[in-house]
Amino acid sequence: MTRKIAVFVGSLRKESFNRKMARVLMALAPESLKLEMIEIGTLPLYNQDFDDQVKPLGPWIGFRQKVKSFDGVLFVTPEYNRSIPGVLKNAIDVGSRPYGQSVWTGKPGAVVSVSPGAIGGFGANHHLRQCLVFLDIPAMQQPEAYIGGAAQLFDAEGNITNPATRQFLVEFMEAFADWVETNSPKAS
Ligand SMILES: Cc1cc2nc3c(=O)[nH]c(=O)nc-3n(C[C@H](O)[C@H](O)[C@H](O)COP(=O)(O)O)c2cc1C
Repeated sequence: MTRKIAVFVGSLRKESFNRKMARVLMALAPESLKLEMIEIGTLPLYNQDFDDQVKPLGPWIGFRQKVKSFDGVLFVTPEYNRSIPGVLKNAIDVGSRPYGQSVWTGKPGAVVSVSPGAIGGFGANHHLRQCLVFLDIPAMQQPEAYIGGAAQLFDAEGNITNPATRQFLVEFMEAFADWVETNSPKAS
């Protein structure tokens, strides 16, 4: 069965390593996963006042409807000050509200963090996992993906240069496909 996966990138930078990584993961994924990148950079900052209005903000409504249509979620994020970038937290917050109507609930997920540093965004990866627990997103535990040394990872076309890293990413996406299958709500 094909599963639709929404991919969220926590960087808006044109030459973002995380965006390159997301593209690589989308290309290496098994056929059972149909992945689509969802842009989060133009979402207005979350403000609960606008959810208390009769008609909440249009971009939020569009984003929530879009996320709802997916079977699972994949987050690819940099680490900012040992946590996740505000743009990604904002998207998570927008999707989580109004209270009781979170679009994240029950969607199987996975986290990849990418950094030029040596510890591969470990802090961001785990801060994000803390949000996922609360949002009831079953997040794949193994394999973990803390990808360091990002400045040396890609060639000019955005391909992964190290065969061992590429193989790890293939296996990561295979495990994620299994995870999504195992943790998807059962058809009644
Ligand atoms: C505000 C800010 C905070 C950062 N904090 C960290 C950090 O805590 N840990 C880390 O490994 N890199 C940190 N960096 C460096 C980023 O890992 C680096 O800019 C990376 O390229 C961002 O990901 P991107 O290439 O996908 O945009 C920080 C960068 C910025 C702009």
